[in-house]
Amino acid sequence: MNFHILTLFPEMVMDGLNTSIIGRAMSKELLNVEAVNIRDFAENKHNRVDDYTYGGGAGMLMQAGPVFGAYRSVVENLKSKPRVIYLSPQGQTFSQSMAEEFAKEEDLIFLCGHYEGIDERVLEEIVTDYVSIGDYVLTGGELPAMVMIDAISRLIPGVLHNDVSTEFESFQDNLLEYPQYTRPEEWHGKKVPEILLSGHHANVEKWRREQSIIRTAQRRPDLLEKVEMSDKEKELAKKYLST
Ligand code: ADE
Repeated sequence: MNFHILTLFPEMVMDGLNTSIIGRAMSKELLNVEAVNIRDFAENKHNRVDDYTYGGGAGMLMQAGPVFGAYRSVVENLKSKPRVIYLSPQGQTFSQSMAEEFAKEEDLIFLCGHYEGIDERVLEEIVTDYVSIGDYVLTGGELPAMVMIDAISRLIPGVLHNDVSTEFESFQDNLLEYPQYTRPEEWHGKKVPEILLSGHHANVEKWRREQSIIRTAQRRPDLLEKVEMSDKEKELAKKYLST
């Protein structure tokens, strides 16, 4: 997977992504991250890439030309046109299923806006997907791009040490993950649930499924409608819904 990030702050995204699990995946060449500085495509000697908005109003807007130049510098090296994601609070809310969809692509371009946004004409020409990471307004698209790249990267085979773990975690089957414990067996007077020490695999699985249902009912009841449950499980969920 090749991520191409069009941004005014290349060091911000590269520094953020170079560390930890994503950084390791980059050195193992499981994925590539390239930050393209939109300012390198400024069309004036002052290297300015923003200007006032027609019609008046507060703030500056990123100009179409430099954004298009940065985009073209990426696609001219590719065989086919990749999806171009514009990070914006006006986009569709990012989700695990979107991450799974994007993880199938060979190349992805992320366009990070700043100031009050980007001239509409270049968005019309290059953007294929408008994506928001939630209903709040950030100062730019860099953090949202990093959030998306993190969520997509961990789905790429080999990026996580334990490939099966992505199958059993929060949002798989729309259920939240069950509580987990490690040593010591007792901490601050709290004991690890007895069943987890029993070594009885089937009972442990049953307990985990119940805990996932209880937790989802308590913390994210909105997710429950999408969960397939037996009648008994539905009863259990109902018991915890109102508490
Ligand atoms: N840019 C500014 N705010 C944003 C958000 N919530 N999601 C994606 N991009 C943004």
